[in-house]
Amino acid sequence: MGIELMEFSTLKQRVYQELSELEKSGLRRRLNPPLGIDLSSNDYLALSSHPFIKENMAQAVLKSGCGSTASRLLRGERREFAEVEKLFASFKGTKSALYFNSGYMANIGVITSFLNADDLVFSDQFNHASLIDGLRLSRAKKIIFPHCNLKALKELLEKETCLGQKFLVTESLFSMDGDQAPLKEYAELCEKTNTALIVDEAHAIGIYGPYGTGLIEETAIGDSVFLSINPAGKALGVSGAFVAGPDWAIDYLIQSARSFIFSTAPPPAIAAALETSLTIINKEPERRKQLLDIAIYLRELLILNEISIPAGNSQIIPVVLGSNERASNIALKLQQAGFDVRAIRPPTVPVGTSRLRISLNINLDQNILREFTNTLKKVMG
Ligand SMILES: Cc1ncc(COP(=O)(O)O)c(C=O)c1O
Repeated sequence: MGIELMEFSTLKQRVYQELSELEKSGLRRRLNPPLGIDLSSNDYLALSSHPFIKENMAQAVLKSGCGSTASRLLRGERREFAEVEKLFASFKGTKSALYFNSGYMANIGVITSFLNADDLVFSDQFNHASLIDGLRLSRAKKIIFPHCNLKALKELLEKETCLGQKFLVTESLFSMDGDQAPLKEYAELCEKTNTALIVDEAHAIGIYGPYGTGLIEETAIGDSVFLSINPAGKALGVSGAFVAGPDWAIDYLIQSARSFIFSTAPPPAIAAALETSLTIINKEPERRKQLLDIAIYLRELLILNEISIPAGNSQIIPVVLGSNERASNIALKLQQAGFDVRAIRPPTVPVGTSRLRISLNINLDQNILREFTNTLKKVMG
């Protein structure tokens, strides 16, 4: 029977049932392109539309074509990838780096490559889905510890034993809460307990530290970190992710990370865009300063207007509203007023903590932020 003649009635019924349940609980997702003033992207340094990056990428497309035609382990390898990886490793202060097609694939690749059945991994409760999925695919024993809770983690690390290696996996700046992991304390604890520390710098790379390489640099714990994952589609304004660490670990990833091996290499022109982006981050520290300055400005303004936000100073500011409906309705009203703010709902965040995730970028100024705060206050009622 041809596929067009098949009805898949049971499957269709099941899917409709699930879609209707999502609709009823205010969790049905829809794909909406950007509209209005950007208060929701991760384009923190506004590099996604930087003229030099666009120009260099366009020139590279003209020179080397669109696709890379195969996995990097086959005919997809290019000199440009190795060069930008070398540049990234020196930027991050590590021996070596490897570029993956996305942060999601990098996290899956790292975790499934290094964590074995005899190992024990401690993972923050609010870690990103890509880290969680990596843990699910790995055969290691998992212990989820309360968010950024050093005391609980310490007790667990001292109590729990394993035959293999212990790992600690955390984001440095959390994507949905905008708060920082106590990296300095984690590094000390990991050293004392011979635990390998893996840090996802998705929302810190390009922004924190004197050279903009992230919170590992800012907290000066580079020597205690096993590997960092540095997605390049956020502050770097391009896409993909660099995993940075020692030579032997990066070499092992090339041999074993299935999300690296069994995937077509990125378009070669990506390397030119990334190289330009890293150069701009290096040469223009004022961008990251400006971002953190407007973050402090908006945070103070929100507090002054009695809009409750968690303590902190990062460019990610959650306004927790509770129910899915309330978060979606308020986001919609802000969008109608010209502000592109999105509601974040479960399973991205815990049930009952649906929120607006305000994320800033350097195209925003104080006037816009004042207007935004006034509108937010009005629509929150
Ligand atoms: C903490 C964290 N890690 C990893 C990723 C995945 O990165 P990518 O979007 O490049 O797949 C994200 C993306 O939102 C993230 O927030």
